[in-house]
Amino acid sequence: MTDQVLVVDDGAVRIIRMNRPEKKNALTQPMYAQMTRALNEASASAAIRAIVFAGAPGAFCAGSDIGDFLKAAEGGLKPITVEFLNALVRNQKPLIAAVGGIAVGIGTTMLLHCDYVVAAATATFATPFTRLGLIPEAASSLLAPMRMGHTRAFAMLVMGRPLAAEQAKAAGIVNEVVEAAAVDDVALNAAREIAALPAGAVAVSRALLRGNLDDVLRRIDTERTHFKDRLQSDEARAAFTAFLARKT
Ligand code: COA
Repeated sequence: MTDQVLVVDDGAVRIIRMNRPEKKNALTQPMYAQMTRALNEASASAAIRAIVFAGAPGAFCAGSDIGDFLKAAEGGLKPITVEFLNALVRNQKPLIAAVGGIAVGIGTTMLLHCDYVVAAATATFATPFTRLGLIPEAASSLLAPMRMGHTRAFAMLVMGRPLAAEQAKAAGIVNEVVEAAAVDDVALNAAREIAALPAGAVAVSRALLRGNLDDVLRRIDTERTHFKDRLQSDEARAAFTAFLARKT
């Protein structure tokens, strides 16, 4: 356990807060493990009726830790990101996100699995996969085109063009854009509103809206195969090394 993920239950709402602000909440493997545990526990608990993902002021999540990517490329690390993604898809409770700032890579793609997303007016959403020699993950290659259409998904996922908060709202990733200082409160209130509804009716309605999740799980698997290959590529290794060396 580290304090890089803080898990707090506020009544029927579980808050999972990424807490590595000095690295803009880039996710390490222990952080993925903690988030997976917190999700699975909440999913199985009758006492929890909604889950909020939150970050730090100015930084929701800078994506996976690029140092970990490099270790994985060199064979020194077996990534467990897919376990987190499976937990995200299989989780039974409504997911709310409080995006207080930058959301990069999985920081953006995990939002495609959320049910209600609140973003700061200053938040930005970016998926620079190809620039890193990588490919989209978290079933974003399936969900993003469904959500926003192929051309917008291509600009975001393949060209790596970032979206401002209002653009993310127009693309259907975000529900509400609010002042940065209000993001956590607005998200928590939305979670409490959901938690106050009859849980059985919410669960069945949510499941109907999400449809058959087998395709999503299969896509995560297919992406994983390509992602693993891409991690080993010269393109990816060069990009990771350049990022890690950029300030030296
Ligand atoms: N992995 C590892 N470290 C990361 C990181 C990541 N994904 N994102 C940020 N960091 C680290 C930086 O290296 C820096 O560390 P340092 O202070 O020890 O040098 C620290 O977090 C702060 O980041 P910095 O770049 O100085 O902040 P910024 O506000 O100028 O830029 C980002 C923020 C997120 C735009 C920029 O850090 C970035 O592009 N990160 C990479 C994001 C990414 O590509 N993620 C993977 C997607 S698949």
